[in-house]
Amino acid sequence: MSTRIIPVEPFDYVVFGGTGDLAARKLLPALYHRRVDGQIPDGCRILAASHLSMDDAAYRAWAREALTSHLNPEDLDEGGLSAFCNLLHHIHLDAFSDQGWPELVAALAGRPAAVRAYYLAVGPGLIGPICARLGALNLNGPNTRVVVEKPLGRDLDSALKVNRDVLAVFHEGQVFRIDHYLGKETVQNLMALRFANALFEPLWNGAHIDHVQITVAESIGVGSRGGYYDKAGALRDMVQNHLLQLLCLVAMEPPDSYDADSVRDEKLKVLKALRPIPDDKADQLTVRGQYTSLSSDALRVPAYVEEVGVQRSLTETFVAIKAEVANWRWAGVPFYLRTGKRMPTRVSEIVVAFKPIPHSIFPDDAGAIQSNKLVIRLQPDEGVRQWVMIKDPGPGGMRLRHVPLDMSFAEAFGVRNPDAYERLLMDIIRGNPTLFMRGDEVEAAWRWVDPILRAWERDGRSPHAYTAGTWGPSRAIALIERDGRTWHEETV
Ligand code: BG6
Repeated sequence: MSTRIIPVEPFDYVVFGGTGDLAARKLLPALYHRRVDGQIPDGCRILAASHLSMDDAAYRAWAREALTSHLNPEDLDEGGLSAFCNLLHHIHLDAFSDQGWPELVAALAGRPAAVRAYYLAVGPGLIGPICARLGALNLNGPNTRVVVEKPLGRDLDSALKVNRDVLAVFHEGQVFRIDHYLGKETVQNLMALRFANALFEPLWNGAHIDHVQITVAESIGVGSRGGYYDKAGALRDMVQNHLLQLLCLVAMEPPDSYDADSVRDEKLKVLKALRPIPDDKADQLTVRGQYTSLSSDALRVPAYVEEVGVQRSLTETFVAIKAEVANWRWAGVPFYLRTGKRMPTRVSEIVVAFKPIPHSIFPDDAGAIQSNKLVIRLQPDEGVRQWVMIKDPGPGGMRLRHVPLDMSFAEAFGVRNPDAYERLLMDIIRGNPTLFMRGDEVEAAWRWVDPILRAWERDGRSPHAYTAGTWGPSRAIALIERDGRTWHEETV
């Protein structure tokens, strides 16, 4: 397979929060890759704005260090690094005072026609003030876009405010709300799988699908992000955005085209069809967990509260939810969602579990017939596995086996899988919002999440404890097993 690199127009990326964690870990490495691969032409500029007082040379040194620690050593190339760092500039800027704004105006003045993207890699409290300044200083030109990062609010009201603040200056078509899960290769493959094949669509409904599982498990803890995380928790941090977006892509009707609004209209309908979880059902349909420490001779993993440095916290680091999409296609098909930190392994996958066959023609000693499953693995080892029953090869009579038809993308295509941010950052420059959330989607997702948050608050109890390195509290297993189902675990 070949990759295709289409160079983008010359641009100015203005990164507010240019010395932050996101810039260091994701944005600069992604832009570096696109530059080294030849997609970013000469004449592009990355203007990092931050509260730190540093000149271009100091910023380039900082960026070089960030790239060296966040890129794979085999991707680092001295020539490439120097050429990339030459695109970087720094402006010492304060969102709340005049500091740095004249410099930004001057830097942008010479290139009014270039594509310009303001990337707001900042806390939610800075989004409004920065947008207001950009508007007041006439920095919203013809080719301008604005990129907003999570968290897009902490509940419906605050999300409405973020949307209002941004839309007071920019129109919806200019706003790119990032959910980096939509930039992952396999997530887009889900659309290819569903809508570029005749095979699945006739079966893609409650008549043939028994249930769907969406798991996003991380083996890491909260690390240095405790300050943010303790105010957010897994429901806000992962479910409201990443897991619900994945659910939408599984559940949506075929859009009439791959056009941004057609796709987003269909996703919105799914979000609106999510059956609300009322207060008195929250305990039955949702599970909250928080990791406790793990101690063995060889290893000690701290508890969540130790990592965050607090005595006690009600913040959940694990969530499992039994959700339902109340429409004709999905009536009666549960969507089991789970996500957590400090799980036994890092894995993100979607499992579409089909119904059992109606009748077996095989003798009992042929072995149990298990249902078909389509497993879409987002990470690691991106790929698709279709589990089917086959006859065990060779003599010995009819013996049945459940095996995966396996397609690992790395093996099949032998190409480096670009990080989600690489694709998304270039889509912003190209002005293609298909893989970004529209304002009404974000609001609809909050509308479903808000009552769960409120039910938990009212309940007031601590999340259920689970030992670091396990699959969450035992109630998460009970959530699915009470329905006679189990969480999918790969056995091959
Ligand atoms: C982010 C969350 O959006 O996604 C983090 O804020 C989480 O808490 C991360 O670790 C997971 O992303 P990925 O791409 O590593 O699965």
